[in-house]
Amino acid sequence: MTASPPLLRHNSAAATPLPPPPTITCVKKLAESPELNSIPSNYAYNTETTGSNESIPTVDLSLLTSQNPNLKSKAINDLEIACQDWGFFMVVNHGIPEELMKGMLEVVNEFFDLSEEEKPEFQPKNVLEPIRYGTSFNTEKEKVFCWRDFLKVFVHPQFHCPNKPESLRGLLTEYCERSREVVTKLLKGISETLGLEETEVENAFNMSSSLRIFIANLYPRCPNPDSALGMPPHSDHGLLTLVIQNGVGGLQIQHKGVWVNVNAIPNSILVNTADQLEIFSNGKYKSVLHRVVVNNEKTRISIAMANGPSGDTVVGPAPKLLEKRGCVSSYAPMKYKDYILSQQSNQLKCKSILEQLQIHEEGN
Ligand code: OGA
Ligand code: NI
Repeated sequence: MTASPPLLRHNSAAATPLPPPPTITCVKKLAESPELNSIPSNYAYNTETTGSNESIPTVDLSLLTSQNPNLKSKAINDLEIACQDWGFFMVVNHGIPEELMKGMLEVVNEFFDLSEEEKPEFQPKNVLEPIRYGTSFNTEKEKVFCWRDFLKVFVHPQFHCPNKPESLRGLLTEYCERSREVVTKLLKGISETLGLEETEVENAFNMSSSLRIFIANLYPRCPNPDSALGMPPHSDHGLLTLVIQNGVGGLQIQHKGVWVNVNAIPNSILVNTADQLEIFSNGKYKSVLHRVVVNNEKTRISIAMANGPSGDTVVGPAPKLLEKRGCVSSYAPMKYKDYILSQQSNQLKCKSILEQLQIHEEGN
C-alpha cells in the first residue's frame, strides 16, 4: 500500500501542465480519514432531518397474483391505495430469496472496499455511461455534496457489469431476473388499478426493452449526521424503483408534507412510484419525494433497481385514461431517454424535471 492522499484518478492528464484537478474524493475515503472530526463545509445541507414514524403500507405480492379472485381484488385495492396515497410501499412475499438479497448487499460492500485502481473510472462525465462509479449525485453541478458514493450500472436491455468483485456478475444476473419478475407483477396490478387490461402498462412502456439501472449506494458513518444528507429530496425518473438495504435505515419519504422514516420490515422490498408513472397516470399516482439521512453509527448500504420504460418510449398520459375520465392531459410527452439525460445532468432537486412537463390549465 502506498500512503497516497485520498485523491482519485482523473481523466484530465495532458502533456501540458494544467491546473490541479478538483479535489473531489469519495466519501468513503473522507469518512475513513482519521483526522475527520466534522464534515467539510461543502457537505453541510443544514436541514432538519428528523422524521415521523407512521406506518407505511404493505403489499403482499403472493396475493396480487392469487388465483382466488377475492384475495386478488383485495390486493389490487391495497396496491391502488398505496400508490395513490403514498407512492411508496413495502412488498412482502415477493419471491426473491433472502440469500440472494444478502449476497447482493455483501458483494456491493466488497465493491466499495476495492482499491480505487480496481474500481471503474471515478466519475465519468457522460451520465449515460453504462458503468458509472462516483460520489454525491452530480459534482459538476452541485455546490453542496451528498454523503454518498454510488455505482450505477445499466443492466437492461444490454447487461453490463464491472469485472470486480468476481462474484458480482452471477449475483447481479440473478438479482436482475428476480427483480424483473416482481416489477412485471406489480405493473400488471397497477394496470388493473388504472382500469386498463393487465398487460397494457407493460405494452405502453415497451417493457421488453425496459431501461433498468442498478444503483448501489454507500452512506458511510457521518460525524455530523444532522447537517449532512445521503441524498437530498428527489423523485426517481423511471416507473418503479425497488430498494433493498443492509438493515440500516435512513430512507425517508414525504407523506402529506411530513418526512416519514421508512422502518423497513426485514427482507421486504421497498417500492416507490416514479415520474413516468405519474405522467402516464396523468397525476393519479404522484411520484414520491424521498431523501436519505445519515447516521454516526453504522454504514448504510442500499441497492436501488430503477425500472423504466424503453429509452425510446415517448411517455405521456395514457389516452384511454384521459378518455375514461373525460379530462385533458396534464403533462407534455417526452422521450424517456431525454428525460433521464435531463435529470442526471442537473442537480438532484425535488421534482424539477417533472415540473417542466406539467401543463397548468389557463386561469389556474
Ligand atoms: C436512489 C435512492 C434510496 C436509498 O438511489 O434514487 O433514492 O435508500 N436511494 O438509498
Ligand atoms: Ni431515489
